[in-house]
Amino acid sequence: MTASAPAKVILFGEHFVVYGEPAVVLAIDKRAYATAQLRKDQRIYINSTDLRVSGTFKGERFQAEKGGSKARLKLEPIKNAVQQVLERAERKTGVNVKINSDIPVSAGLGSSAAVATSSIVAVSNLLGIELSRDQIFYMAYESERLVHGTPSGIDPAISTYGGALQFQREKDFISLNVQTNIPLVVGNTRVERSTGELVANVRRIKEHYPSIIDPIIGVGGKIALDAVEALKKGDLFTVGELMNINHALLCAIGVSHEALARLVYAAREGGALGAKLTGGGGGGCMIALAEAGKLKRVVKAIEQVGGTAFVAKKTNQGARIEH
Ligand code: MEV
Repeated sequence: MTASAPAKVILFGEHFVVYGEPAVVLAIDKRAYATAQLRKDQRIYINSTDLRVSGTFKGERFQAEKGGSKARLKLEPIKNAVQQVLERAERKTGVNVKINSDIPVSAGLGSSAAVATSSIVAVSNLLGIELSRDQIFYMAYESERLVHGTPSGIDPAISTYGGALQFQREKDFISLNVQTNIPLVVGNTRVERSTGELVANVRRIKEHYPSIIDPIIGVGGKIALDAVEALKKGDLFTVGELMNINHALLCAIGVSHEALARLVYAAREGGALGAKLTGGGGGGCMIALAEAGKLKRVVKAIEQVGGTAFVAKKTNQGARIEH
């Protein structure tokens, strides 16, 4: 049984969304695939080719096969996702889960949420239980809590539902029916980083300088709401400018990186309407909005300063069964 779930790019509002502000997120055409098989014993074996780790959980005990001492930490969120499904199904069985993914890891594209979501869908279908999209989302959210302590839920939401969402914590997501194509380039600095550490550092400066950081967070939310209006009107020029302002706020809260700055400036000089980091920051990926005819130029501009880049397309396909 194989299932898949999409990667995402946050167009507006990463980090600010952790504190209750609205954000805008798109599912893109890169996916994580999970294949699940029943076992005869009660162990959970997970093999993640992209994380280059594998191992077996037997209750609370873990035996690494590949990846040494780091394997457990990396596999724990996937095991948590699988275990929630086993508990829901009330089945005392073990499973093998194999993960393959097109999504760069630790890059801000929601790889961990896509892996958890696809694993939940694969294992639930293997066990013959039907989960609603909301149940899939909540299980993936629980697993995401092991990746970083205070996730907003934006990553598991978009991996589950697909499309374009206006997302706000503790509110119903608004599915954005944007008619205009949103022509985007994703540039990867290839600097790996931990979302958990970045989120924790933002919390630290927020607690230390609340009268400075709280207004920045509020403005971040306002940008996301204005961007929704601009997207609805198909006003890409405004969307681009709002992306530039959003990037500056992310620099102010300390989540940019020299390599991200290089790619963002190169994209703008290469003709992008706007560019910003996407996801957790601190390395990882940036996105650039460009008119369709300029996408290739922007890709080249990013590559010339040492990044890798691809044109990303929105997908409406959230988590799904493959076969
Ligand atoms: C990570 O893709 C987005 C962050 O806002 C964290 C979160 O929302 O959980 C940085």
